[in-house]
Amino acid sequence: MFDRSELIRRYSVNERETPHLRANFIASVDGAASFAGLSGPLNNAADKQVFDTLRMLSDVVLVGAGTLRTEDYGPLILDDDAVAWRVEQGLAPQPVLAIVSARLELDHSSEVFSRAPVRPLVFTHGRFHQGAPAELAAVADVEICGEHSLDVAGMWTVLNRRGLTQVLTEGGPRLFGSLAAADAVDELCLTLSPVLAGGGAGRITAGSEHGLHAMRLAHVLTAGDMLMLRYMRSR
Ligand SMILES: NC(=O)c1ccc[n+]([C@@H]2O[C@H](COP(=O)([O-])OP(=O)(O)OC[C@H]3O[C@@H](n4cnc5c(N)ncnc54)[C@H](OP(=O)(O)O)[C@@H]3O)[C@@H](O)[C@H]2O)c1
Repeated sequence: MFDRSELIRRYSVNERETPHLRANFIASVDGAASFAGLSGPLNNAADKQVFDTLRMLSDVVLVGAGTLRTEDYGPLILDDDAVAWRVEQGLAPQPVLAIVSARLELDHSSEVFSRAPVRPLVFTHGRFHQGAPAELAAVADVEICGEHSLDVAGMWTVLNRRGLTQVLTEGGPRLFGSLAAADAVDELCLTLSPVLAGGGAGRITAGSEHGLHAMRLAHVLTAGDMLMLRYMRSR
């Protein structure tokens, strides 16, 4: 297991005012992003520590509706230690949860919304909906970014206007693919899990091929046979 202050030091950015999109994923050594449809079988307690630290360091956690549904997300609530650390740093006690969905078929009565310590955000585009369905608008701030597809730059404008500069995306692959295609990803934290999972699962990214985006290795942490890789976008 890692020392908490060491993890904070390893993953902190120099300037929180500069907008920064960090993605956090886990994959098996043979490239699977899930096993039996979930990422849980790939991770362990050390990976969970990194996962929790990255949440603690963020202003907003951005997640695709597919991952929210598949991974059965609950409300985004950090524990008391994390809240105390954030308040000491002058941050809001809890980060905001932001969900990306085109179809907006989200369960507005779920605890993701009803127990959220901060009103969640929902990003969508105008292909299926002209405005936000009333039930969803009652429990979340719905932002329409783009006419027929997600306007990533528009989404950043909304986040920055709200002072949410430190963005953590926990995927999933389709969301990550569209963020990477827009060359919006500044950092990828990738845990390599020491298992072979076979060929059934997808990768951590989906969608079409984009240009090669060079990344620079910032660090490698090890936890037994598990590797925690931190890559920064070389611009
Ligand atoms: N290994 C890991 O670290 C990791 C992390 C996360 C997820 N996963 C795995 O990934 C799988 C889920 O994959 P996924 O690709 O379905 O996940 P996803 O990207 O979270 O979800 C896709 C859905 O999110 C919405 N969405 C994503 N990008 C969008 C965009 N650019 N514009 C509009 N809507 C967008 C759409 O929602 P609507 O359908 O509501 O329109 C879309 O159907 C699961 O097996 C999960 O376990 C693995």
